[in-house]
Amino acid sequence: MVKLRGGARVHRWTTTSLPLVLFMLLMLTLVILILLAFDIISLPVAPDIDSPIKFTRKTFQLGDGVVGRKEGERGEQWTEVLSWEPRAFLYHNFLSKEECEYLIELAKPHMEKSTVVDSATGKSKDSRSVIWCDASYSFDYTIFFLPRKCSNVLKYICMVRVRTSSGMFLRRGRDKIISEIEQRIADFAFIPVEHGEGLQVLHYEVGQKYEPHYDYFLDEFNTKNGGQRIATVLMYLSDVEEGGETVFPEAKGNISDVSWWDELSTCGKKGLSVKPKMGDALLFWSMRPDGTLDPSSLHGGCPVIRGNKWSSTKWMHVSHYKV
Ligand SMILES: *[C@@H]1O[C@H](CO)[C@@H](O)[C@H](O)[C@H]1NC(C)=O
Repeated sequence: MVKLRGGARVHRWTTTSLPLVLFMLLMLTLVILILLAFDIISLPVAPDIDSPIKFTRKTFQLGDGVVGRKEGERGEQWTEVLSWEPRAFLYHNFLSKEECEYLIELAKPHMEKSTVVDSATGKSKDSRSVIWCDASYSFDYTIFFLPRKCSNVLKYICMVRVRTSSGMFLRRGRDKIISEIEQRIADFAFIPVEHGEGLQVLHYEVGQKYEPHYDYFLDEFNTKNGGQRIATVLMYLSDVEEGGETVFPEAKGNISDVSWWDELSTCGKKGLSVKPKMGDALLFWSMRPDGTLDPSSLHGGCPVIRGNKWSSTKWMHVSHYKV
């Protein structure tokens, strides 16, 4: 008994509330058990020791976002070593369907807007201008359309925007969902989030492609911020019925040793290829572990034959990339 003035009141309070507290604890336990039983909440699971390269993750439920964390809609996640020259790895079900759709929806209006501006006058009102550029151009403030060959160099119609909040280029840490994806990329590549450029969302329609190129720069200007590009994560936001593969024409090894070989287009069979699958992410390195540039990282996007291709790219630098 607690010795207090007015102890009688304290006494009455404890005797009446103790069963109540016990009852509430019991109810709380029951609620937790029910939640566990219906898989609404889950206990942390120890990693699968038998397969060390298998990653398990929790994704955010998109939409209302009130429910909080829950085992996402993503299918089974595992990584696959595609090649050591170049160093390329495929992470299956890296993004959930909702995350893919979210990225597409964010970029879509800007792409449509750009097209309207382009077809109308070729000029624009709000500090944008249309120029020709090639793959070596810094994409930070550009949007590019149909690639065209001009005297053997692939050129794009680029829209230069002065504002960094430009269309398909999503600012790093733009919102919660983007930040989560960026953190996941950083974990996958072992490269800090701060070394990455903003996410770029690309859309390819039938016939559109991206000729083989390097992601690293050969000029001084583009390496000023963050140094050389060291690695790239390419995420597929949609399935492509036919074509649209990412091809590494200079990859060493047996290129037909992939399980999807029979499904590849003619272009896709010209090298080590990855068939676009919604949610999958491809990580490849433009630099070798010793810091030299890796020419076997040459890669391109095969023409889309049937369907639509949406992808998102994260370029990462050797050091801090300022945004
Ligand atoms: C390459 O891989 C394919 C499929 O696994 C196999 O049939 C073929 O014999 C391999 N070629 C060589 C040269 O190892």
